[in-house]
Amino acid sequence: MTTRDTARQVPETSRDEWEDQYRSGRWDYLAEGPEQARYAALCDRIRSAGATSVLDVGCGTGVLRDCLGDGFTGRYVGVDWSQAALAARPPRPDETLICADAARLPVLGSFDAVVLSEVLYYLDEPLAVVRDLLGQVAPGGQLLVSLYQPPADRHPGWHALIRDLGRDVRALPGTTHEQVTGGGRRSWLLYALTREAVR
Ligand SMILES: C[S@@+](CC[C@H](N)C(=O)[O-])C[C@H]1O[C@@H](n2cnc3c(N)ncnc32)[C@H](O)[C@@H]1O
Repeated sequence: MTTRDTARQVPETSRDEWEDQYRSGRWDYLAEGPEQARYAALCDRIRSAGATSVLDVGCGTGVLRDCLGDGFTGRYVGVDWSQAALAARPPRPDETLICADAARLPVLGSFDAVVLSEVLYYLDEPLAVVRDLLGQVAPGGQLLVSLYQPPADRHPGWHALIRDLGRDVRALPGTTHEQVTGGGRRSWLLYALTREAVR
């Protein structure tokens, strides 16, 4: 498993840099256009599984929660280590937002769906976080991981990292995946891992 090595292929983004990026609007685009396709795919998975509890790790400004809409009346817990991201919009009355490092997450309970949406490649030990989070998946639930699939000729470091992560995640038992395309140009791989992947 070379995730740790490949993780070094992308510049490390410190917690302070995330704060600055959210304050400058760097990530506002996530709520727009082609990205909607992957949020929709995640929401479809959550709804079709009948999930009534969602843990969204690296939730950013809560775009996934907003995409779930008012029809989702279950428990939503969003975790991000950026205060600026968590404060970007007024909190919904039905959500719990926690400022914490995904790598040092306390046990927050048992969730029907745990989500890592465009987060894994920013973590120093991504597979360790995957394994930890599988411990917070309820019986019959799933861990949903979304990974961008950049064109091979762009961002080669990112490409290698995302390819390797995808291979490692896919190798875990109980994992299925689907390709999601948005706007005809951007695509993501969406992995669904069952609790068995941790054993
Ligand atoms: C590209 S954004 C994705 C945001 C959100 N999941 C989405 O899909 O809209 C990556 C997020 O991961 C968060 N993040 C990165 N490293 C983290 C860590 N170690 N602990 C918690 N959050 C982290 C960042 O603050 C940022 O909000």
